[in-house]
Amino acid sequence: MLKLRRKILQASAGLVFAGPMLGQRQVLAQTPECNPNPTPRQIEGPYYTPQTPRRSNLIDGLPGEILVLEGRVLSTACQPVAGAIVDLWGCDAQGVYDNTGFKLRGNQITDAQGRFRFETLMPGSYGNSSFQRTPHLHVKVQGPGTPLLTTQLYFSDQPLNQHDSFFNPALLVKIEQKVQQPKLALFDFVVPVQAKG
Ligand SMILES: [Fe+2]
Repeated sequence: MLKLRRKILQASAGLVFAGPMLGQRQVLAQTPECNPNPTPRQIEGPYYTPQTPRRSNLIDGLPGEILVLEGRVLSTACQPVAGAIVDLWGCDAQGVYDNTGFKLRGNQITDAQGRFRFETLMPGSYGNSSFQRTPHLHVKVQGPGTPLLTTQLYFSDQPLNQHDSFFNPALLVKIEQKVQQPKLALFDFVVPVQAKG
């Protein structure tokens, strides 16, 4: 009898423990790096080309410092946004855009964890004495159920940052490898996800 009561109590404890898990949508725990603020928008600029090739390596044999850009697309609730298009474009090391082809241009689709990865070149600066652009990358991010995000990314070690009126420190990539090649830059885009109606 005592054994039976103990078994019933153990079984009940197990059910109570398992109860809150039943019928709930699995929500991933927030990561310590999660930033719930949407990524700031920036201008598209004059050098966007639509319908870029879907590819990870954008270099096309061009000379320059190789830059790997990795990151995730996350919702403001810090959940991965899978199936988002990340369309990246940048100028070459001399500050020149390929406006007739697709050099240093391409798009990727985020995986189930919201991740993307590009190999491109560290962009140069461009402009003149009255208008200077510090090195930057342009990007458009469009996820299922998210508004289109157009923005730019910046690098912290650039003296021209303070002379570029578009520069925004909230858009700095995090450089993980400074000495070893290739240079690895990390950035997570945060976008509002509209509720499915
Ligand atoms: Fe630009």
